[in-house]
Amino acid sequence: MWKNLMDWVEYRLPIMRVANMHAIQYPAPRNMNFWYMFGFLATIVLVNQIVTGVWLTMSYTPTAEEAFASVEYIMRDVEYGYLLRYMHSTGASAFFIVVYLHMFRGMIYGSYQKPRELLWLFGMFIYLALMAEAFMGYVLPWGQMSYWGAQVIVSLFSAIPVIGPDLVIWIQGDYVISGATLNRFFALHVIALPLVIVILVFLHIVALHEVGSNNPDGTDVKRKKGSLKEDEKTTFKIHEYYTDKYDIVDDIVPFFPHIVLKDLVGFAFFLLAFCYIMFFNPEMGGYFLEHPNFEIANPLKTPEHIFPVWYFTPFYAILKAVPHKLGGVIAMFAAIIFLALLPWLDRGKVKSWRYRCGLHRWNLLIFAAVFVFLGYLGGTPQEAWKIIASQIATIMYFGFFVLLFIYSKNERTIPVPARITE
Ligand code: HEM
Repeated sequence: MWKNLMDWVEYRLPIMRVANMHAIQYPAPRNMNFWYMFGFLATIVLVNQIVTGVWLTMSYTPTAEEAFASVEYIMRDVEYGYLLRYMHSTGASAFFIVVYLHMFRGMIYGSYQKPRELLWLFGMFIYLALMAEAFMGYVLPWGQMSYWGAQVIVSLFSAIPVIGPDLVIWIQGDYVISGATLNRFFALHVIALPLVIVILVFLHIVALHEVGSNNPDGTDVKRKKGSLKEDEKTTFKIHEYYTDKYDIVDDIVPFFPHIVLKDLVGFAFFLLAFCYIMFFNPEMGGYFLEHPNFEIANPLKTPEHIFPVWYFTPFYAILKAVPHKLGGVIAMFAAIIFLALLPWLDRGKVKSWRYRCGLHRWNLLIFAAVFVFLGYLGGTPQEAWKIIASQIATIMYFGFFVLLFIYSKNERTIPVPARITE
């Protein structure tokens, strides 16, 4: 009976065919390592954010008068409300940790290169939407840092010539940050942006599965139909779902159970770290997450230091490094645009850093270190030396892309094995 029912559904809705194609028999390169778990973890965190977010919304009130108190109510009176809130706030930080590692993985293995440019672009749009989502979410508790953080970020738009001041009023929905701003940020945070993120993630996965996953060696396991060499044909396997467009070299393992089990091991470690922070250190010493958001928003009292949450601080440091307001805003947006343009700035023929020149490896490592250092500079109180340091670090940030563009054209590389098994 069960089989008949499944067949009946399958005839009308290809559930098993799609599951096979994209999750069970999906041909995964056999050398995928633990760097490949972050996409899976990002998906898990996305689900966590949506589920806990829906439950938080049930008890939250999006008005300037009641928002702060409703968050206190969630923390103290709603059953397990504190847990929901900490799952959501720790989840936001976890999201950025896994997404930054996910992006870095893409950079070291050249996963943005042809034919995965669109996949990378979808990733960058997800990243932008994620930043907007996190920024608006942080405003909702209506604490001092929510208010003044919003003030700093929204006022950046006023630097745009001609339309800037009007744009700020349009975003705020008022002449100052007010209950109207809170209300529209709430709408965007709980409805519009999650929807956009989910759609983008869907497109991200579709684009990935169309061209297939890259791997730490950067070899192609999925070849255009008919492009396999004669000697390769003796060992390759044609995957039944892709026969119309591609030939799959026999360097693959089915996604289930091989990659699923590997991802679950990663997930276990992730869960340990996540639970430790959530249960024992959810405010991270009051520094990372909520500092000093325990006080209700007061438009008449500017806090001594205004910092964004840690995941924005590298860009905040770039913003502050440029003495001119509009210049700072341009530099900050350029920092993100340069990342998005990586597939075109990197003119190398070889994907993985394993087979690229030493200069490339150093360039990548220094870039990662500079990014972390910028994060430190943007997230700690301003001091004289930090201005110079953030200017040098900003130059080094952009230097990464310039150098890459120059040396990647005629780079000396190590021969890439044609097959993973080699
Ligand atoms: C909500 C955020 C995101 C989710 C849920 C997500 C999900 C995934 C998943 C499930 C995979 C396949 C597994 C893996 O390779 O790790 C993947 C691959 C990939 N993602 Fe994302 N992703 C997100 C954000 C991003 C961002 C921000 C970027 C970069 C700008 C990006 C770039 C890539 C690339 C290049 C691949 C292919 C990697 C390869 O095959 O080597 N993703 N993503």
